[in-house]
Amino acid sequence: MRILQISDVHFGRHAVGAYLSAVARRIAERRYDVVVVAGDLTQRNFRGQFRAARSFLDAAAALSTVFVVPGNHDVAWWWKPLGLGPRALLLRGYRKWISNDLEPVLQLPGVTFVGLNSCHGVQPYTLTTRLRDLSVVGAIRPEQWERARATFAGAPAGDLKVLVFHHNLLRGDLSNRWGLVNRAAGITEALGTGADLVLNGHDHQTRIEAVEVGARRLVVSHSTTLCDRTRGGLPAAFQEIELSPQALTLRAVTWDSDAGDFTPRQDRVFAR
Ligand SMILES: [Fe+2]
Ligand SMILES: [Fe+2]
Repeated sequence: MRILQISDVHFGRHAVGAYLSAVARRIAERRYDVVVVAGDLTQRNFRGQFRAARSFLDAAAALSTVFVVPGNHDVAWWWKPLGLGPRALLLRGYRKWISNDLEPVLQLPGVTFVGLNSCHGVQPYTLTTRLRDLSVVGAIRPEQWERARATFAGAPAGDLKVLVFHHNLLRGDLSNRWGLVNRAAGITEALGTGADLVLNGHDHQTRIEAVEVGARRLVVSHSTTLCDRTRGGLPAAFQEIELSPQALTLRAVTWDSDAGDFTPRQDRVFAR
């Protein structure tokens, strides 16, 4: 089982054509079982940006199963300030061009994926003291965590349980920002779903980390961006994930400007 994790493509003026063609080439060569796109497909929620994202996803879907969730840039949050206004408008573009299913579930032999939508625009429950985070911060409601838990509980025994949502579960070590409004409590909630692996974007910095709480271990993988706005001037990258009965291997594949291509860095291997 081989999975590609990308996020934050941000189709629009910050997208980088060289990265996108290199990723498309890699998808064609590697034939991943699943291509996960962890949100922020667009930069500004514009129709042309959704269209560009759609054709990228179509090309990937011809070769792999594509699993996608929305990001905060895919939400027209200004339609529904503070929970007022029609909720349907929030993700209208995403629903039209990308997927009407904001929280997909995918079951393949040995692995169950659950997607959650962490992007609700500006709501009473997303209010934060950091004003610049007002439309940026993510939230996952108790009923969403519960849905993930119930789906994982019904998955075949021994499946790897993979939770996918846009906002970074861990605090970014350069940004110093939590993705979710309830910060570290999100880790407890993610653990409570029974997930083994969490795939996020949003922070624009690559991070692969095992979080251990008591006897439970959760592997968290944040993919950075494929646009020109990586954090700290670090190179663009994506993650390749390989699953065997014995091990879960995560590999950051990083842009090498001399090679003009993405090249693998050291693997992180977690025993199962
Ligand atoms: Fe982003
Ligand atoms: Fe984001």
